[in-house]
Amino acid sequence: MTRAARGARQGQDGAGRRPVAGRDLLVVVLAAGEGKRMRSETPKVLHRLAGEPLLGYPVNLAHSLGARHVVVVHAPGQGAAVKAVCGDCTFAIQDEARGTGDALNQVPHSLRGAAEVLVLYGDVPLLTVASVRALLQLRRRRDLDLALVTARVPDPKGYGRVVSAPAGFRVVEEADATPEERAVDVINTGVCCFRAEALWPALRAGRRSSVTGEVYLTDLFARMPRRATLEVAAEEAVGVNDRSQLAEAERIVRRRINRGLALAGVTVVDPANTYIDAGVRIEADAVVEPFTFLRGQTVIGARTHVGPFAEIEDCQVGRDCVIGRSHLVGSTVEDGVAIGPFNRLRAGSVVARGARIGSYAEIKNSLVGPESDVHHFSYLGDAVLGKGVNIGAGTVTANYDGVRKSQTVIGDHVFIGSDSILVAPLKVGDDAYTAAGSVITRDVEPGSLAVERAEQRDVEGWVARKRRPRA
Ligand code: UD1
Ligand code: CA
Repeated sequence: MTRAARGARQGQDGAGRRPVAGRDLLVVVLAAGEGKRMRSETPKVLHRLAGEPLLGYPVNLAHSLGARHVVVVHAPGQGAAVKAVCGDCTFAIQDEARGTGDALNQVPHSLRGAAEVLVLYGDVPLLTVASVRALLQLRRRRDLDLALVTARVPDPKGYGRVVSAPAGFRVVEEADATPEERAVDVINTGVCCFRAEALWPALRAGRRSSVTGEVYLTDLFARMPRRATLEVAAEEAVGVNDRSQLAEAERIVRRRINRGLALAGVTVVDPANTYIDAGVRIEADAVVEPFTFLRGQTVIGARTHVGPFAEIEDCQVGRDCVIGRSHLVGSTVEDGVAIGPFNRLRAGSVVARGARIGSYAEIKNSLVGPESDVHHFSYLGDAVLGKGVNIGAGTVTANYDGVRKSQTVIGDHVFIGSDSILVAPLKVGDDAYTAAGSVITRDVEPGSLAVERAEQRDVEGWVARKRRPRA
């Protein structure tokens, strides 16, 4: 399970609080739909929302309730990808997308022992754990057959409408709705909780819609005599059927993340223009400037200042750092490091405590030792630098000979002169110097100066001769 999933689980559950749901609850996450409206080769529930697969959201929510079983119903051929997202769940396959009612009916009989069944939709990611707890409480308190989460939304198009009637509400799918029913702005979020004894027998009797040919879960509702709804805020109800709704959900999640960080002591200067994934952790008193993207499982330490325009993915960044508009991927930056603008750290790089990277450096799979300086225009690939090293402007480690990659090892307090080409494999001993403009192909002994360039020749009177007018 991802860090975000764990974080969400811990955060949502609250320390030491007994889960409301308890062990007599079965949670079913429906994720076997075709997702045609995404127009994508990727299954809909694996599209990413703030860096996490959509399906991760309901699955995390399910885990946070402490249910006896969490069953994920998925389509054939998607088992491996779905399992990678879900962690500790049970899986059922719906061999063909015959509707949400049919999907729920794929839950194996051996798992139908729990007294209560909560249904979550794989494409409804924004519902909060507090709302779901309230739903479970509502059902239990009144011993309902069904409690359903609804929302009043500005644009109900595409959703099932919740139509009130004297005998209790009904849900009418858009495809089957009359014009009057379509005008209803209260929608079915899909999330609902059943008394198991009422659910399973009714499900067996599910019939296909004459319009779409699907077995609707929503058709069962009218057959649950004791039923009630719980209305939640419109933003919790967003269902992701197409990429426009995915973008809308992204905006809402991002706002929640940035607000959560702000309340936890992180200065997010302009939340509307700051893009932080759900799996990112940031310590208090860090400052995130606008147009910064923090992705994946990135961690930012206390008092570190990031951006503007920084892009950091899957990196561990320490405390008291300054990171300018640079692009960092899969790297570790220790405490007190300064990284200026326009640098690129590629996977496997470590910038140790107190080191400074100026501008226009590319660093790949290299260790920059403590208190070392890499100021301008350099490439370090497969290099290991000791402490207090100075890398002059224009230095290049020539790590690739067209066939294999080789390492450059630079000792403590080495001074690499500007425009040095270090042809790997190469070792430069402690305290050594290389002269500016040298192409270094042999190891340099500790304490030596390596010079590799032609002697300077001054041609006396050359300029005057050059400029003399032709006779
Ligand atoms: C569904 C609801 C609708 C509700 C909306 C909320 C039904 C019949 N309709 O419509 O009332 O307003 O969600 O977002 O339930 N799925 C399966 N197998 C299937 C079909 C779907 O597992 O055969 C899964 C999908 O992967 C998805 C969820 O069920 O996660 C909902 O399916 P979808 O086709 O998106 O239903 P909607 O048309 O959005
Ligand atoms: Ca949907």
